[in-house]
Amino acid sequence: MTRVALAFSGGLDTTVCVPLLEEEYGYDDVIGVTVDVGQPAEEFAEAEETAEALDLDHYVVDAKDEFAQLCLESVRANATYQGYPLGTALARPVIANAILEVAREQDCTGIAHGCTGKGNDQLRFEAVWRDSDLEVIAPVRELGLTREWEQEYAAEKGLPVEGGNEGDWSIDTNLWSRSVEGDDLEDPSYVPSEEIYDWTSPPTGESQEIEIVFEEGYPVAVDGQQYEPVDLIESLNDLAGAYGVGRTDTMEDRMLGLKVRENYEHPAATTLLNAHEALEGLVLTQEEREFKQLIDQRWSKKGYEGLIDAPLVDALESFIDETQTRVTGTVTIRFEGGQARPVARDSEFAAYSAEHASFDTETVGKIEQADATGVAKYHGFQRRLANAVSTADEDDDAVEIATDGSGTE
Ligand code: ARG
Repeated sequence: MTRVALAFSGGLDTTVCVPLLEEEYGYDDVIGVTVDVGQPAEEFAEAEETAEALDLDHYVVDAKDEFAQLCLESVRANATYQGYPLGTALARPVIANAILEVAREQDCTGIAHGCTGKGNDQLRFEAVWRDSDLEVIAPVRELGLTREWEQEYAAEKGLPVEGGNEGDWSIDTNLWSRSVEGDDLEDPSYVPSEEIYDWTSPPTGESQEIEIVFEEGYPVAVDGQQYEPVDLIESLNDLAGAYGVGRTDTMEDRMLGLKVRENYEHPAATTLLNAHEALEGLVLTQEEREFKQLIDQRWSKKGYEGLIDAPLVDALESFIDETQTRVTGTVTIRFEGGQARPVARDSEFAAYSAEHASFDTETVGKIEQADATGVAKYHGFQRRLANAVSTADEDDDAVEIATDGSGTE
């Protein structure tokens, strides 16, 4: 008796995979695994119903805490890829690991996903699964399935596919972001209707300020109330979403090289990322901030690739950990006009001296304005020399041209 574990959402792709794993891949038994990374309740209901109709053994694994923790790690790395805070990307390894665990417990010899051969998710899932010796199966990609073929096949087989209630868009939702792609959105020149949004209201003239407390780079409280990661993210999604914060409409360069038009909503992510960066601006030195941008960018890239367990990421995180020991303090964020704008920051670790920076004081700790005179004389010194030489060259040319009146060589 052979058994295969399938990453199961109850959508069209994964639903047709169930009979195909038996028919085309010869497995005796298929089990479906849905991993909770903060999808809306309807999605679990859909998965549950579809599984029942398919007579599929269905496992639901709650990975919300683990995922939320990873989201907060990403805040410490100021992580975005082309403006997108990596919701889908960061969730995939968490989901893949949870499915692998069930697959092992249930003595599966195969493990399957319903991703197409065009996206990033196939790469992210398989990177995790290929660490095991289970057979990795991607029916949609391997059999070259199209949506049309799947719909016909489902109708023929009487498979339970309602096609969801959100039209023809492909939507991926978790705690950190909601992404919408496909159908009319595939035309980059098309302006999306308000209907694609679910987490964010259109920005209004209203505004609100909130105070976020960070401890060593981790957000821990909002307006004086302590939160666990999942609750913190969920409540900020509600709060900031009401002000239209965190909408992104972008041309995304996927790992395979394809450009895809993506629309995202990520109110909590935008709020936390903006607040965190504002606090770093207060406590880190200029050179730390500059160097950390490189570190953050590499972290983000590994996050986008779904390779968050790469040794490089551990090394990057050692640097991040070191810097975050001082990223403790409070940031005030104002939600206004679709933005989450830092309007105040405060920390006992501020690398800032109001006294020194003030326009109102002349001498502080033996530093006087006049001390800058020498610095000002040397600032741009090499460039002055270099430019003087090249200007002289040009002048020579000018002289030559002017004296070369004959116009012959
Ligand atoms: N392009 C994004 C990524 O690779 C998200 C794609 C998932 N979105 C969707 N609607 N299926 O991380």
